[in-house]
Amino acid sequence: MERANPVLEVRRGTKRFPGVLALDAVTFGLMPGEVHALVGENGAGKSTLIKVLTGVYQPDEGEVLFRGEEVSFSSPGESQAAGISTIYQEVNLIPLLSVAQNVFLGREPRNGLGLIDIPRMNRDAGEILGRYGIEADPKASLNSLSLGLQQMVAIARAASIDARAVIMDEPTSSLEAKEVQTLFGVIRQLREGGIGVIYVSHRMDELYEICDAVTVLRDGKLVHSGSLSKLSKLELVSMMLGRELDEVQKKGATNFGEEDRTAAEEPVLEARNLTQRPLLRGVSLDVRPGEILGLAGLLGAGRTETAKAIFGAGQLDAGSVKVNGKAVKTGSPASAIRAGIAFLPEDRKSEGIIPDLSVRENIVAAALPRLSRAGLVSEKAQDEVVERFMGSLGIKASGPDQPVRELSGGNQQKVMLARWLCMNPKVLILDEPTRGIDVGAKAEIQKLVDDLARDGLGVVFISSELEEVVEGSDRAVALKEGAVVGVLSGDEVSERNLLSMLAEGGTEGGTEGGTEGGATDGPENGGQG
Ligand SMILES: Nc1ncnc2c1ncn2[C@@H]1O[C@H](COP(=O)(O)OP(=O)(O)OP(=O)(O)O)[C@@H](O)[C@H]1O
Ligand SMILES: [Mg+2]
Repeated sequence: MERANPVLEVRRGTKRFPGVLALDAVTFGLMPGEVHALVGENGAGKSTLIKVLTGVYQPDEGEVLFRGEEVSFSSPGESQAAGISTIYQEVNLIPLLSVAQNVFLGREPRNGLGLIDIPRMNRDAGEILGRYGIEADPKASLNSLSLGLQQMVAIARAASIDARAVIMDEPTSSLEAKEVQTLFGVIRQLREGGIGVIYVSHRMDELYEICDAVTVLRDGKLVHSGSLSKLSKLELVSMMLGRELDEVQKKGATNFGEEDRTAAEEPVLEARNLTQRPLLRGVSLDVRPGEILGLAGLLGAGRTETAKAIFGAGQLDAGSVKVNGKAVKTGSPASAIRAGIAFLPEDRKSEGIIPDLSVRENIVAAALPRLSRAGLVSEKAQDEVVERFMGSLGIKASGPDQPVRELSGGNQQKVMLARWLCMNPKVLILDEPTRGIDVGAKAEIQKLVDDLARDGLGVVFISSELEEVVEGSDRAVALKEGAVVGVLSGDEVSERNLLSMLAEGGTEGGTEGGTEGGATDGPENGGQG
């Protein structure tokens, strides 16, 4: 009997916030043993739906049912105790505790005296991590792990709770390709155990790889619910965006311009021999005004470290950075910013988006010195900048005065990008700028980056989506184990060439145009040392 019924459902659930109808009489059901994709643009209501299901919010109208019975969870703790395990988009484990403590937080094994049985906890955590193929030391403190591994710990925790439903809100946004495959292994184990999984992601390929069913939300409304394999990607995207199929179809895979950009000859950024053992082993690269330089590489290749080294975050063992021929003090973000280097890091939380301040304040805070030629910044000048970026990035908020914490995850990301862009940098380093951003906005950001390069900005673009690197870059640098293994330019920049360089550490035999040994204008390596 029970098999035919949803394990978790909401019937005509409505949730209002001041000025926004975040959920509008949405009905949704999750079947046991099903992986159910929940999709929609930034701000469509996905996280709100999840929060209504798990007791973070009470619906204003409608009901929630778990295993066929109406429930009214008054907190996420209650829904977890009942058997709903959730990884929230923005939630955090506790950085200073160990991996094992995080896995067992709130349900620690106790010994006869009622104290936490630490050896057993470490053993059990090791067993759980091992079962899911996650390589983390149970005794290590959580903050010693990469962002991706921390997320894997959250996933191990969620999966190991004896749950009937597991909910994942953008679980892969900080994962590398290999970790995503580990996660999918976990999800398959859950599915085989008859557990229902809700999966939120903006990455189409992932949805089609792992999900059985799909529900599409738009502006808080249910647009479609059904089997995923019946829908093409294009149909799905057009439902998400609310545009006609042919309108969506006109666009290519990404939104970088078709025509070639023309880069100046003299580099705006010259990085030489960046060395930070053991992560960076002598990385050199050039960026010219008007070009997008892609950085490709696998987990641990040193892309983020390269970006940070250029921006002066972290001390180097060796290396130098110049902007327009002038040396920039390394190890000093303040010097880098003064020289015109901007850096959008992959972890938006650590990089001081200030949740309680408004959208306006978050955007202009860092730019004030630049907007104020004569020391005074007119409100009007601020408003203009804020309005321009809210418009060009499509930041969805009730207005510039809304606190950033109330924005959906993707819109917070856009606010951070706007903050850097309004500083008018000479060099812009973007580490995963389109992560967590919906397909429509992603295209807008790609277009914007393209426009910025056309206006003469030098851009360093890091993305774990090779397609984006390939479509966007004028030149691409392949990094492996902290060293440059190759540079491609123009038509040579293809997924195939990049993959073969990353796999072999050299370009595929016989690439024309002679990148090998011939990267005359700079970004050659210096890596083996
Ligand atoms: N606590 C809140 N206060 C006010 N408005 C809110 C609050 N939480 C969400 N909203 C609004 O509700 C709408 C839906 O937001 P939600 O976070 O559910 O979007 P989402 O689909 O998860 O988007 P994303 O893909 O960007 O994560 C948005 O307009 C958002 O600004
Ligand atoms: Mg969300």
